[in-house]
Amino acid sequence: MSFVKYSELIQEGDVVIIFLGHDSMMPIKVESGAQTQTRYGAIRHSTDLIGRRFGSKVTCSKGGWVYVLHPTPELWTVNLPHRTQILYTTDIANITLMLDLKPGSVVCESVEFHAQRAEKAAQEFKDHKVGHLVTVRNQDVCKDGFGVVGVADAVFLDIPSPWEAIMHAKKAFKRKGGRLCSFSPCIEQVQRTCETLLDHDFEEICTLEVLQRIHDVRSVTLPLPDFGPEEKETESTKIACDHTTEDIPPTANPTNSSVTCKTATPPREMAGHTGYLTFATKPRD
Ligand SMILES: C[S@@+](CC[C@H](N)C(=O)[O-])C[C@H]1O[C@@H](n2cnc3c(N)ncnc32)[C@H](O)[C@@H]1O
Repeated sequence: MSFVKYSELIQEGDVVIIFLGHDSMMPIKVESGAQTQTRYGAIRHSTDLIGRRFGSKVTCSKGGWVYVLHPTPELWTVNLPHRTQILYTTDIANITLMLDLKPGSVVCESVEFHAQRAEKAAQEFKDHKVGHLVTVRNQDVCKDGFGVVGVADAVFLDIPSPWEAIMHAKKAFKRKGGRLCSFSPCIEQVQRTCETLLDHDFEEICTLEVLQRIHDVRSVTLPLPDFGPEEKETESTKIACDHTTEDIPPTANPTNSSVTCKTATPPREMAGHTGYLTFATKPRD
């Protein structure tokens, strides 16, 4: 099992996501002879997991069942043991797009000054079989930089004082330049970052916030206006209705006094601020 290549069958040492329900998943490492307790009973790794297909439905010892899923970066994001505030897919998707990332891109990101976190991250990359693609450095990016010069297509910063790392980012970029992103929760951090980016001749500086706007779709029954005495063609069937989600014709009830139609209402308030994403381009040297 690897995070970058799908495997058919579960093997000893694999990471498997146990899916108990949409809001309840747990990652486990498969070890022969081991057992994992769930609310549906125990899962025996040797008999219930090893050799089974990823995606199988597995019956636990108390008779309930779970799905055993192949990890994906997205599933890992919602299941990983938290050590710090992490990024979620809404921001990750935007960052990937705006940094122009593609297979083979060199990205400077994983420098970590906290020794244990750096160690744990390196072990995780190894366990997920992406260790050969990622180098973890245990150093202070603001003092010591990324430890590389002239190699990066993109730089991503998610630290409290990104402005202190910008001159190091500049050195890490390839001569032809590249794209930088800095993630900060507070607008004051954004302001200092933008000023420093300008001082270092970065171009196309822009800051955005990505919020998901989920519409509430429901059927509503509305009273019909009184159109007066009925003529040949009834006016009530021509009532305009806001079909925001689907093109379903409104249905008038038998007495023609009301009409039922689908509506989609956006939320009144947009919760979910995670941070501001500041992007910039480092021009060719
Ligand atoms: C918010 S977390 C990054 C989370 C990561 N983007 C993710 O989604 O998993 C910030 C991390 O940067 C580290 N850090 C903060 N300042 C640093 C610095 N100057 N040099 C290296 N690491 C730093 C912290 O120890 C922390 O682990």
